[in-house]
Amino acid sequence: MLERSKRGDHGVMSVTRPASLGDAAELAELYGQNREFLAPWEPARDEEFFTEAAQRAGLAVMLDEHARGKAVPRMIVDEDGAIAGRINLVDIVRGAFQSGNLGYWVSGKANGRGLATRAVGEIVRIAFEDMDLHRVQAATLVHNARSQKVLERNGFVRYGTAPDYCKIAGRWQDHTLFQLIRPDA
Ligand SMILES: CC(C)(COP(=O)(O)OP(=O)(O)OC[C@H]1O[C@@H](n2cnc3c(N)ncnc32)[C@H](O)[C@@H]1OP(=O)(O)O)[C@@H](O)C(=O)NCCC(=O)NCCS
Repeated sequence: MLERSKRGDHGVMSVTRPASLGDAAELAELYGQNREFLAPWEPARDEEFFTEAAQRAGLAVMLDEHARGKAVPRMIVDEDGAIAGRINLVDIVRGAFQSGNLGYWVSGKANGRGLATRAVGEIVRIAFEDMDLHRVQAATLVHNARSQKVLERNGFVRYGTAPDYCKIAGRWQDHTLFQLIRPDA
């Protein structure tokens, strides 16, 4: 049974579930369908990236990171259980930092229905309540107003701009930095 059909603590249907190796084929197809849509917002991709084998290899890395407490890889799913996007908490650091980096996307067809906003809410709850983290960080391109709105609706606060922060669409680009501190911390 898909986790999608499970209800969260607050009785609301979840829009995310844990990633698995079995997602590789569907994920490769979805990345292929969204190649142009995602291109301005993601690292440049080679042809290999859009194959099931490459997606399986990428998922294996993420699942290994998950097993070591370094990442929380989840799929964003539609009402029928189909994958509609991805959300990952990565680079989890413990010690005095207790923080992780958030990344996500929703397919073009599924945009504008609040899926990303709900998915961010769900992974933030996992980060704070299940993993006991202190902070979640996210970085958006300076002109990614849509993603910024998703973060701000979940309580994230913008705290700066990082010049040449990340190589997106083949260019080192400035990013707006956001963080959410666990409210009860
Ligand atoms: C950013 C992204 C995840 C949003 O997904 P989504 O499921 O459509 O998001 P939601 O429906 O939860 O919310 C989007 C909000 O942005 C708003 N929005 C859309 N275009 C906007 C714009 N140009 N400026 C400001 N807000 C905008 C929408 O109206 C919506 O708010 P509303 O519900 O109050 O109307 C999706 O567009 C995406 O995957 N983009 C490409 C990859 C990407 O940018 N990933 C994030 C990298 S930081």
